[in-house]
Amino acid sequence: MSEHGDRRALRAFYPGSFDPLHLGHLDVIAQAQEIFGAVTVGVLFNFAKDTGTFSVDERIALTEASVAHLPDVEVTSHAGLAIDAARAAAADVIVKGLRNQADFEIEHQMSQMNHSVAGLRTVFVSADPSLSFVSSRFVREIAKYGGDVSHLVPAPVAEALTAKYAT
Ligand code: PNS
Repeated sequence: MSEHGDRRALRAFYPGSFDPLHLGHLDVIAQAQEIFGAVTVGVLFNFAKDTGTFSVDERIALTEASVAHLPDVEVTSHAGLAIDAARAAAADVIVKGLRNQADFEIEHQMSQMNHSVAGLRTVFVSADPSLSFVSSRFVREIAKYGGDVSHLVPAPVAEALTAKYAT
């Protein structure tokens, strides 16, 4: 219990594609765990057009391996809406990380849609400034052509990228 009483009794739901999870994501998860107490990370996918670099099962396994050191963090997957995944996780709040203005534009709109449809609030946390340039898309692109991204992703993801693109 903290000096302010037992106020860390909420579950945050953190949805994303996580293809793959990078250190910016991990920082958001750690921030959410610190603030709320418990976090469910939701690997969201679309059955119809899921053509990611990593399969959903691989993304789940890599995310689980990457959050293993954090207390009260679990990983789920869901095909469909984030609000349904959040409900299934019995989450009190959705959490998202903001890196820049572009993130804000889309995330702000999504948060209002999700609240309008499901009454679920979204809380934003600021990305670690040292990681605010990191994206899964560019991690994938650089790794694919042999670039070193090992300082930008958790060790299990770095190993998986090396194995995937080993020549
Ligand atoms: O890691 P990403 O690709 O930025 O994550 C985006 C994601 C998966 C969180 C977002 O696209 C999403 O919530 N998709 C689920 C479908 C959904 O809930 N759509 C309604 C948005 S208001």
